[in-house]
Amino acid sequence: MKNFDNVKIFDHPLINHKVAILRDENTSMKEFRELIEEITTLMTFESMKEGVEIVERQVKTPLETCTQKVIKDDSVVVVPILRAGLGMVNGVHVLFPSAKVGHIGLYRNEETLEPCEYYCKLPVGIEDKLVLLVDPMLATGGSACDAISLLKKRGCTKIKFMAVIGAPEGVERVAETHPDVSIYVSTLDRCLNEKGYILPGLGDAGDRLFGTK
Ligand code: PRP
Ligand code: URA
Repeated sequence: MKNFDNVKIFDHPLINHKVAILRDENTSMKEFRELIEEITTLMTFESMKEGVEIVERQVKTPLETCTQKVIKDDSVVVVPILRAGLGMVNGVHVLFPSAKVGHIGLYRNEETLEPCEYYCKLPVGIEDKLVLLVDPMLATGGSACDAISLLKKRGCTKIKFMAVIGAPEGVERVAETHPDVSIYVSTLDRCLNEKGYILPGLGDAGDRLFGTK
């Protein structure tokens, strides 16, 4: 895959270990859900190193008063792409407990692989926030590209996109279509199969999270 300034592939030993268990077809729904949350928290820690609004606060310690940098209240919104993105929300809330949540509902047409929008509800004032868009799977990139376009139409200018597993085709597509968006992927897989599934991948993330198959 080409190199992009706006793409970070984690390839971190702790995350890779968890991804190995996540991929395993024998991993239970409960364990799958927990792993998605844990990986999301680890990725959030790193991806929010830059771009977050910082303010200074006076803090009185037992010894003296100091000025301390803190994250501005109510400055981050998390937006899962339904359904599978829902599995990542708790993982973000571990670090940003008061982040408001927007929802974008997209499903892939199984024949064309094109995303179809069926739901969108975003917090009032989202255009002024740092938006963390989340979806475990970045396959053709169609869903991520559409979700980002939708956020931009709503006036959002500070967007980060986070996926657990990405296919090179999808990562390239999102990176080229939205060069102003920072893209974070824990693990870059080999390719897509003829049905648009990531190889080796982990199967259908939504079905494994919610037990629908
Ligand atoms: C999956 C996944 C992404 C999308 C990725 O969702 O969670 O949203 O596919 O594929 P793409 O990069 O080719 O667009 P799906 O459409 O299966 O819906 P679901 O989450 O409701 O199962
Ligand atoms: N969506 C999934 O859930 N898995 C894939 O491999 C591709 C798209």
